[in-house]
Amino acid sequence: MGIRYLADQRLFKLDAGDASYIIGIVDEEQFLGHVYFGRRISDSFIHSDSLMRINESPFVPSKNNRDRLSFYDTFPSEYPTHGIGDFRETCLGILDSGGHTASKLEFVSYEIMKGKPPLDGLPATFGNDEDCTTLKIVCLDRILNLEVILLYTAFEHLNVITRSAVIRNSGNDPISLTKALSCCVDLDGNDYDIISLHGSWARERHIQRIPMGLGKKVISSNRGEPGHQYNPFVAVAESDATEDFGEVYGFNLVYSGNFYACVEGTQFEAARIVMGINPTDFRWLLEPGQEFTAPEVVMVYSYQGIGGMTRTFHDLYRKPLIRSSYRDRKRPILINNWEATYFNFDTEKLLAIAREASSLGIEMLVMDDGWFGRRNSDNCSLGDWVVNEEKLKGGLRHLVDEVNKLGMGFGIWFEPEMVSPDSDLYRAHPEWCIHIEGRTAGLARNQYVLDLANPEVADAVYDMMKKILSEANITYVKWDMNRPLTDLGSNWLPPERQGELSHRYILAVYKMMDRLTTDFPHILLENCSGGGARFDPGMLYYGPQIWCSDNTDAIDRLIIQRGTAMVYPLSTIGAHVSDCPNHTVNRTTPFETRGYVALAGTFGYELDVTKIPEEDRKMIPEQVKMYHKYNDLIREGDYYRIADFSDNHLYDAWMVVSKDKKEALVTYIQVYQRPNHRSRRIRLKGLDENTVYRDSLTGESCSGSALMYAGINITGLYGDFRGKLIHLTAV
Ligand code: DGJ
Repeated sequence: MGIRYLADQRLFKLDAGDASYIIGIVDEEQFLGHVYFGRRISDSFIHSDSLMRINESPFVPSKNNRDRLSFYDTFPSEYPTHGIGDFRETCLGILDSGGHTASKLEFVSYEIMKGKPPLDGLPATFGNDEDCTTLKIVCLDRILNLEVILLYTAFEHLNVITRSAVIRNSGNDPISLTKALSCCVDLDGNDYDIISLHGSWARERHIQRIPMGLGKKVISSNRGEPGHQYNPFVAVAESDATEDFGEVYGFNLVYSGNFYACVEGTQFEAARIVMGINPTDFRWLLEPGQEFTAPEVVMVYSYQGIGGMTRTFHDLYRKPLIRSSYRDRKRPILINNWEATYFNFDTEKLLAIAREASSLGIEMLVMDDGWFGRRNSDNCSLGDWVVNEEKLKGGLRHLVDEVNKLGMGFGIWFEPEMVSPDSDLYRAHPEWCIHIEGRTAGLARNQYVLDLANPEVADAVYDMMKKILSEANITYVKWDMNRPLTDLGSNWLPPERQGELSHRYILAVYKMMDRLTTDFPHILLENCSGGGARFDPGMLYYGPQIWCSDNTDAIDRLIIQRGTAMVYPLSTIGAHVSDCPNHTVNRTTPFETRGYVALAGTFGYELDVTKIPEEDRKMIPEQVKMYHKYNDLIREGDYYRIADFSDNHLYDAWMVVSKDKKEALVTYIQVYQRPNHRSRRIRLKGLDENTVYRDSLTGESCSGSALMYAGINITGLYGDFRGKLIHLTAV
């Protein structure tokens, strides 16, 4: 069992892979406190009192209440509550029927069970009885009769602990939750750096590393989705931790709505990390007997630097998170018509692309935005999920059949959560969009967000989608979402529940995705949000891949994909070869290099293959072969960052090593040519030092130790934006 209660010491000890997480019950008042999170330690001689310093002023739980506040404000509480004297970040905020905001929890009981129970209506990692153990700790506020059930799961073979909380009103009066976060961890020491992912449209998930210092660093979203700007991920790393060495703690929320993560450097050399649903705009009414479930936080521990953390996230997300049957399969190489045609297409144009694409080995045509209603620009028709037969002459079925006859699969684009003011749906049901009566709701991309919290709205949209998907042999859906939520008001919710809208909205999105993937299990679902504004583990639970960014430029993608791969496996990163000059940044890069960069993702095309230069087109069959040769390795192998172009401003390199260390693929991109500098030595990682590897291009053999410690010389590249693959196999 990975979790045990050590009764003598009043400790819960959770062992997960190489990590231990320890929780203590303190004092006769039964405070629940955090003792330790770090490298695995043995069960005996754990002195929780000294680790929590509760015998030393000001950390002492005061008996006579004289100095109670200093205790509350220093105790490393597992689930701190607002209003009683813990002035740091807390997890729980309430409003009781008397108008008060304070609550206080004490430990009541626990249960340890094999496996991992699902979270009601929420995506979460899963696991069987052999792989994980779950601890349920029941805490209680005796005055309010409010129960907080803390859930912890320890994964047997991964350095992963997941957390969530269920809050239940067991009293007789209603209670509103104003804050219900998922976790709090107090780490000892203050010499940490904070790593997070930041961006904007077309430059998502750039890595930022800054010193923690004192005070709060908040990473959050109140856009109704994570957004391009922030990702629900934060890592706290020892300040001297590197890519390969040092302790790093990664936190990632399995949630696709408003999130909140805060790292607080506190007064007594400690770091408090909290994460969960953003309390801004959040209020949840619990009538007597009702409960609320907070989304899951995945906590990863690494003593092998940032790279170790990354590989643990990848291992977890590639297995017990993604439910899709495509998870462990090579995905079809698709060609998407967005950058090829935008809204300007018809059946003939699509078939011309498909014919050429299939002759080159591309396996699926994806018809993007513009096939429905009267949609010839982004000004209308969202919500009218009816085929535009002026564009698609002969209907959808005819187009799909013709594409299928070429031996290709067919995929389609939807933006189910939205409605255009100029649409039949909006004209019939203006009250179905999120808005506040009497206030003009703001438009973005000329569209409103549908109030999916209202089941009637969600059902109506889903029925339209289902009809389309049942009409023809469609095996892929791109689910897009192109604006944030604002003007939060729902015609369907009563006034006292308006604060529930954002969370109810995302629960409804999850429910629709669940219906879609249950009704059409053969469909490969790719999530998207104006590029990569909703790249989070919640989405991966439903679909195995997410469109990473609308920026398809190979050089910008180095930075975007590197940041994305900090947490998310390469197999989840939607990446396409597009035409040049690039539509977003006007840069021209070699077709070959665009292929190498897209290979570190799902791989596909986003161009009019009938119009690109002949020398580029000729390269496609080679790239198709390359994808088939390397995709198993890229999808399943261990990913190592070698050189970061955003640090060195010259070149980028990464590699993937198979789990058995018998095969590796190194990708090197020379971003800028330096004068008088025709070769560069890089040191490889993750190989077996005693194995001899053969470079399949040059035929040269070299030991793993030489490749890793002495390195290899990259030669033969001349000019900007040139790339190279090095494939190594064990001799
Ligand atoms: C945003 C997506 O990121 C693009 O790939 C494309 O699907 C457009 N939306 C279509 O409107």
